[in-house]
Amino acid sequence: MSVHTPLRSVLFVPAASEKAMAKAASLVCDAIIFDLEDSAGAEEKESALARLVATLETSGFAAPVIWVRIDALAVPVTEVLKPFLGHRVHGLVVPKVSSARDLKGLPDVPLWAMIETARGVVNLKEICEAPGLAGLIVGPNDLRADLRVAATGGRAEIATALSQVVLYARAYGLDVIDGVYNNFRDEDGLRAECAHGKALGFDGKTLIHPAQIAITEAVFSPSNAQLSWARDVVAVFDAPENAGKSLVALDGEMVELMHLATARRWLGIQEKI
Ligand code: COA
Ligand code: MG
Repeated sequence: MSVHTPLRSVLFVPAASEKAMAKAASLVCDAIIFDLEDSAGAEEKESALARLVATLETSGFAAPVIWVRIDALAVPVTEVLKPFLGHRVHGLVVPKVSSARDLKGLPDVPLWAMIETARGVVNLKEICEAPGLAGLIVGPNDLRADLRVAATGGRAEIATALSQVVLYARAYGLDVIDGVYNNFRDEDGLRAECAHGKALGFDGKTLIHPAQIAITEAVFSPSNAQLSWARDVVAVFDAPENAGKSLVALDGEMVELMHLATARRWLGIQEKI
């Protein structure tokens, strides 16, 4: 997506859940991912797909961008979803991507790859080079299971993987979304993990519960301090005496053209929020 598209809050909505799907239309978040994978049991897969199709046919959504996380089903999901791809459904989220091969043979729509295996992390370069790839999402639960590690409060056990995912996403100009926080009643824990993800460079966070949207958006939105700095940076570069300059002084600090680009990005995101 454009560097100005806010992707702070990306909510998984389980297609297997009738109640969750009934809420989908009214959920206000930056993006929804309708899920056909881990949240649908083997016996529920086909009915989840049918419910998803019915929902896409009948309702509009408050969320501006809709994705679908696909799974290998008996019915080829991408065939069933074809009528919606490119308009109602912006793109496909591909789970457990471990190599570029996992992204082959998919429809020509934007793809977000979930990095949730050790192999996915070590193969990030070829995955990022795959045609159609638009972003990366960390899947911390599968990743921990694959690494045989338990969750620690500060995510030290997956810190390397998190940083690698951000690094590769930036190297290839991709969106990059942090993983879910399971404890959906723990607001302070969520806030801390969002702050950690923002500090590492993620654009936003995937969510499992609507109650997580507000906190996540608050953390991942440009802060007042960032916005006021951004306005000052733009103003100082716009001043006639600084026309054509590549660096200027602002309140005793050097600011350069890359700071101006950052400032414009924050203001652009803010405008879309
Ligand atoms: N999307 C839409 N609606 C959701 C939702 C979601 N992700 N999570 C919960 N809701 C709805 C519930 O259906 C419930 O609806 P109701 O008011 O009509 O009863 C309401 O929000 C309150 O939910 P609550 O009772 O607090 O939680 P729950 O026990 O029903 O659900 C989970 C908890 C974890 C099972 C549920 O949030 C969920 O399935 N999340 C998504 C899981 C997922 O997609 N995982 C795969 C990616 S990691
Ligand atoms: Mg998973």
